[in-house]
Amino acid sequence: MNRFFFILVSILAFFPLSGCKDKRPNPDLEKFVVKNVIHPSNNPFNEDKVELGKILYFDPRLSYKEDVSCASCHNSASPSEGFPRNKIHNSAPSLTNVALYKDVFKDPEAIELEDIVKEKVHSSLVLRDEAKTVQRLSSIQGYRELFNRAFGTPEITLDRIVLSLSTFQRTIVSKNSSFDRFVMGEETALTPAQIRGWNIFQNKAKCVQCHHGPNFSDSELHATGLPGIKDKVRTPTLRDVSKKKLFMHNGAFGSLEDTVNHFAEGGHAKGLRDPLLKPAELSDQDKKDLIEFLKALEGEPIQWEIPSIPKA
Ligand code: HEC
Ligand code: HEC
Repeated sequence: MNRFFFILVSILAFFPLSGCKDKRPNPDLEKFVVKNVIHPSNNPFNEDKVELGKILYFDPRLSYKEDVSCASCHNSASPSEGFPRNKIHNSAPSLTNVALYKDVFKDPEAIELEDIVKEKVHSSLVLRDEAKTVQRLSSIQGYRELFNRAFGTPEITLDRIVLSLSTFQRTIVSKNSSFDRFVMGEETALTPAQIRGWNIFQNKAKCVQCHHGPNFSDSELHATGLPGIKDKVRTPTLRDVSKKKLFMHNGAFGSLEDTVNHFAEGGHAKGLRDPLLKPAELSDQDKKDLIEFLKALEGEPIQWEIPSIPKA
């Protein structure tokens, strides 16, 4: 905590809220900008692996009954509204910036993205019959070519499926938001309301206690005062949050306004609440400014075309 407030204070000391005459980016604020995602040495980046991972992500033939793909549930990063949305899974988390969370997934055994992807491939798709999935994909010539390009040999294994899905997911990153451009020295990138909102976010409302760093997430679990919810939930990124239609892990809120109100009130009195969550005395204008600030975290659109998947 102390370290955190120290960082905060030093950010504020360096951050001229009015004027901002110096065009050079501020090194302290730069910590909020996503620059690179680190691809681990046991699963290095290559373009072909990304391409393969993307195709697998959309291919329902990965699932036992050939009816669900990763994208059927995790489609919020896809601009294609045409993709069918499943009501029940509306609140599957967006996988945007998933590579930026620090080793906290729901499953305490999972440390790397590969671990959680492997678990997901099992629990959501192949169930107990991974051999069947592998066999099915192996019978498709187009896939053997894609695996060959990505891994150097055409062999199809569950591990390779997991590796390529993970590499693809690491490329889904929200970048170059107005906030990032502002931090990098483009002083007109934020409106006055957004600058006020950023100030409220840090000080009056203390949202930064949990939403900090380049991903606006501490990667920690917290109780956020939703009535009836006993489990703690990991702090989600706030990047691209204004593009969402449902908020919170269970879709409890249908608007950013309701969500911000919830946090401004320190969570619902009847819900389990993290001690860090305290009511902040925010005026209506403050709340509007906060929302304007959240909009400044919208990255440039992630250009996705649903790939054509190899025919059987
Ligand atoms: C039936 C819907 C469904 C399908 C299909 C599905 N997921 Fe998920 N996924 C979820 C839900 C719900 C969660 C959040 C709760 C949890 O972790 O169980 C989640 C969590 C995740 C996470 C962790 C996200 C985070 O922020 O911690 C990753 C990564 C992930 N899924 C990847 C995948 C991949 C890759 C596939 C395809 C192989 C896939 N999922 C298929 C519903 C689904
Ligand atoms: C105690 C830590 C904590 C504090 C303080 C906090 N948040 Fe959060 N925030 C969370 C967690 C954890 C979630 C996820 C809750 C869930 O999914 O049920 C969340 C979710 C959100 C969401 C919804 C994100 C989504 O993808 O659905 C928004 C918006 C948000 N917070 C904004 C704020 C604002 C604005 C403040 C300050 C007024 C704030 N938060 C203060 C921990 C915190």
